[in-house]
Amino acid sequence: MSGPGDADAQAHTARNGAALRESATADPVSFWSEQARGIRWFRKFDRTLDWDSPPFARWFLGGTTNACYNAVDRHLDDGDGRTPVADTNATPAAETAATATTIPASKPAIIWEAEDGSQRTITYGDLHRDVQRFANVLLSLGVGRGDRVTIYMPMVPELAVAMLGCSRIGAVHTVVFSGFSAVSIRERVDNSSSKIIVTADGGYRRGRIVELKRTVDEALSGGGGGDSGGDGGPGSADSVRHVVVLRRTLRDIPMTGGRDLYWDDLMDSVPDTCPAQPVDSSHPLFILYTSGTTGKPKGVLHGTGGYLVHVYSTFGWAFGAGSDDVYFCTADVGWVTGHSYVVYGPLMHGITSVMYEGAPDHPDPSRMWRLIRNHKVTIFYTTPTLLRMLMRFDDYDPKKAGGGMEGSALPGLDTLRLLGTVGEPINPEVWRWYHRRVGRGRCPIIDTWWQTETGGMLISPLPATEDVELKPGSAALPVPGVSIDVIDDNGDPVPANTRGHLVVRRPWPGMLLTLWGDDARYVKAYWSRFPGLYHSGDYARVDDDGYVWLLGRADDVLKVAGHRIGTAELEGCVVSHAGVAESAVCGVPDEIKGESIVVFAVPRSGVGTELYGQLESDISQKIRDEIGSIAAPGAVHVVPRLPKTRSGKIMRRLLKSVAMDEPIGDTSTLEDADAIQEVRSMLRAKG
Ligand code: WTA
Repeated sequence: MSGPGDADAQAHTARNGAALRESATADPVSFWSEQARGIRWFRKFDRTLDWDSPPFARWFLGGTTNACYNAVDRHLDDGDGRTPVADTNATPAAETAATATTIPASKPAIIWEAEDGSQRTITYGDLHRDVQRFANVLLSLGVGRGDRVTIYMPMVPELAVAMLGCSRIGAVHTVVFSGFSAVSIRERVDNSSSKIIVTADGGYRRGRIVELKRTVDEALSGGGGGDSGGDGGPGSADSVRHVVVLRRTLRDIPMTGGRDLYWDDLMDSVPDTCPAQPVDSSHPLFILYTSGTTGKPKGVLHGTGGYLVHVYSTFGWAFGAGSDDVYFCTADVGWVTGHSYVVYGPLMHGITSVMYEGAPDHPDPSRMWRLIRNHKVTIFYTTPTLLRMLMRFDDYDPKKAGGGMEGSALPGLDTLRLLGTVGEPINPEVWRWYHRRVGRGRCPIIDTWWQTETGGMLISPLPATEDVELKPGSAALPVPGVSIDVIDDNGDPVPANTRGHLVVRRPWPGMLLTLWGDDARYVKAYWSRFPGLYHSGDYARVDDDGYVWLLGRADDVLKVAGHRIGTAELEGCVVSHAGVAESAVCGVPDEIKGESIVVFAVPRSGVGTELYGQLESDISQKIRDEIGSIAAPGAVHVVPRLPKTRSGKIMRRLLKSVAMDEPIGDTSTLEDADAIQEVRSMLRAKG
């Protein structure tokens, strides 16, 4: 197939940063209309942006496209025979100047490696066959356009196939990270009314089997605790018709007749071809749940055209991926980084990605470096948490440790040309270590700031596109076409080098459409604190050179090992324990994970101090059971009372000081100043 999209696509990755910024500043809407040429459209759009009823933006109106087509078919000669209109409202000159670039079907799309060292290569041709088959499987199970499909899988190529199979037919995928509990799955399945759950008989982590199917069974039977019981009524995941189970561990597992079906049986029974269905640009592509400051997780809903244009453009600007690049992003596909920069971004650019299932330090801390060496990785994109963890093993010698690797702790990293980080602020000393040891002083580091809600990067150095001085610890500049500001509590811009709230002034293509089924919460969560502005919830400052420095969350959301966890959600879980009357949760700095969770709980009357220890371990277990292992607290303290203001507000700030064993500061607004001293003595007594 040929079409005029691809020559433009290449132009995006040329070093044309100054021109990009100039045209983005002059007219951001036309700028994004130009960028939209990077993806394939079945029908041209008539209008770039509808911002008539803010904060509900609609991008590329009238255009139709397909995410799976853009990730797979567009690269291949043997597509489904239909040539989409590969351009937008571009000038005729641009249309005629463009030529097709295809890649061989034998090019690896995903090189997958498991913890035990086993490997598989999935070519673009394989992927093309598998996504069509899986799309047919979904159709055969009655999944149609707009239907939701929950995916709860290990990091295996079939996870990407499942997502792409959904988008191929206009179904909406909602991936739940495999570290979440049965209760969390049920909440998400109920909220999205998913028809199908795709899972596996297990996954592997640290040599052990993670029993994913068993957790799904628990979610569907109403087990695993929580308040949405298994009575078959609302809140019992009764929207689910089928569970599709990938055989990964090949163990015998219980299968429920009629409901549970094996992936390979289904794949073998469907035809090989299934055309990608054109969907409207604003058609929902996926829901991804993330924590907020209040209540249950929010179902962030992303559309198709705007999201693809944003991810395609930012991937090109940031990584500048060429046809020979081997790209390795360590994020789990269960998080937004995995969606945008493990699945859609690299595939839309037709490059080869490495995908790894398992713990990054298994069997030893040289695992990531060996992956890079063995697969000749050129671009490595990871998190500060992982870097902090590996930095401790800088002098780890795999040879001495019997790992069979020659050389030093960080062997064979010569293929690397670009490094990236995401998810949390990176401490300058970690940045320097990354630069010096992993990048051997030669690779630029891109510190990319963005959120589940933003779809793709909003702030990042773009070394593939422009020369930019890197400052360790700063995410540098907003990407072209995105308007960032830092403002004070009243909404006024703050002077340079002053901390304020990070906001976005204009809509951007990757922005969420809304929160699934809850427009009111969408408006309240992001657009009400500063009317007309998108409120990110982060603090930042801008230096004299216009560089943005991210200063952490301004709200009650914690970042534990890069995962977002709301304190309100944790507190809700803790107080639902029969022995707990009240709870307060705060985060304290952690050397590796960035933050660690500390829970304070006041027992109900009648719970004697001799039971405090038991209650503490119960609470810890309850959080693991109901939210998941990622939310496991670093410490739980049962205390007789919590410090409160005269109006009854719990003073979490003071609790945090106590948890960190720091001076408490001003207690004049406390109702009862003894309460905090009491907590402090209890914690000190515990050591
Ligand atoms: C934080 C992850 C500092 C920030 C893609 C944001 C960062 C939250 C950075 C979103 C960065 C992300 N520097 N902080 N480069 N990137 N954050 O939704 O607090 O899991 O609001 O998306 O991560 O987390 P989320």
